[in-house]
Amino acid sequence: MRKVYVNAEPVITGGRPVRKKLLDFHKPQIGQDEIKAVNSVLKSGWLTKGPKTREFEEKFGAYVKAKYAVGLNSCSSALDLALKVLSVKAGDEVITTPLSFASTANAIIHCGARPVFVDVNPNDLNIDPVMIEKAITKKTKCILPVHLYGQPCDMKSILRLARKKNIFVVEDAAHALEAVHQNKKIGGISDITCFSFHPGKNITCAEGGMLVTNNKAIAVRAQIMSFHGIEKDTWRRHNKGKIGDFTQVEAGYKYNMSDVQAAIGLCQLKRIKIFQRKRREYSWLYNKAFSKLPQVRVLTRNSVQGNENGYHMFVIEIIQESLKISRDFFLKALLAENITAGIHYPSLHLQPYFQKKYNYRKGMLPNAEFVSGRIISLPLYPKMTRTDVESVIQAVIKIANYYRK
Ligand SMILES: Cc1ncc(COP(=O)(O)O)c(C=O)c1O
Repeated sequence: MRKVYVNAEPVITGGRPVRKKLLDFHKPQIGQDEIKAVNSVLKSGWLTKGPKTREFEEKFGAYVKAKYAVGLNSCSSALDLALKVLSVKAGDEVITTPLSFASTANAIIHCGARPVFVDVNPNDLNIDPVMIEKAITKKTKCILPVHLYGQPCDMKSILRLARKKNIFVVEDAAHALEAVHQNKKIGGISDITCFSFHPGKNITCAEGGMLVTNNKAIAVRAQIMSFHGIEKDTWRRHNKGKIGDFTQVEAGYKYNMSDVQAAIGLCQLKRIKIFQRKRREYSWLYNKAFSKLPQVRVLTRNSVQGNENGYHMFVIEIIQESLKISRDFFLKALLAENITAGIHYPSLHLQPYFQKKYNYRKGMLPNAEFVSGRIISLPLYPKMTRTDVESVIQAVIKIANYYRK
């Protein structure tokens, strides 16, 4: 690595930036194939859920080794549906992690159930099975782990606990496409797994999600509930001149995927291995550069045998005791160098909504709180070049060294 910036002055105090043009936190990799596929769907005359969605469901399900897959308009919808299909309701409790995006806990609240946040393991920031066990009560209906940044949770312990206590497990795998747990792809392991195809994820559909399961009854109910509770969706009612059948068996939702989205998803799925190679390569370049930097701790890594990280995000934790600046100042200094970084996530239990509604307080989940103010997510996506990656490395080292205690 070039050493030019290692001991230079940060832009924020008057130095020169490591790069001239702003590096986005994320940019999707959309090529001619996706454009052609969307064009073809637009010209076909069938835009909503139809043959392309069916094809994407089949190919995606097979890819993650799940028997059934239901194409939806987002992972948020998948999480909502998963809990509804498992009949989670008012009076129930669902145990989850506080280090996640709003959707994870919102899905629990939308069912009328109570989100029970338990603390994370400080090593990988995933939900701690020991804490889950302590939090299980007679009201616990489900455990909702999140594979944060693509690092698989300890599913073996979580599933053992769940089976012993007769509790469902729904995985939030928004970050975990391509992740492997104990030599099994994340997808067909627990009762239901939910994926995201938001533009910032490992593959995108513009917006989209997939609910996967090995249980036929769950899949059938999810499919029906994703389209208003009507047994046959529009394609199945109208395909090949069939007469419409509006038989409604439940009060469902409008959560289905469209064929425009599925067409993009199919192209992206074909290229997933290429995308993943870049994610892994860039993560390891970061890892190598930062593992010798005492002012930061690397969180994205693959340390358990039989597991594979999905390399969704690359996250470092600043070692506050070795730095004169706060995490937020570090982020500002990176932006001044023309590098956009992020925070994933400020702990949910510290958000005003959860404090007011469920009486969560600072001090309840010390591990999540500790990292909440120290984590920084760095840009990681296949559209980046090695030079982009190097500029991020140079900027982090420059700032960390300049503000070293
Ligand atoms: C951990 C996690 N869960 C769920 C979601 C929701 O995904 P979507 O945007 O597809 O609804 C996200 C999105 O960022 C996420 O990061």
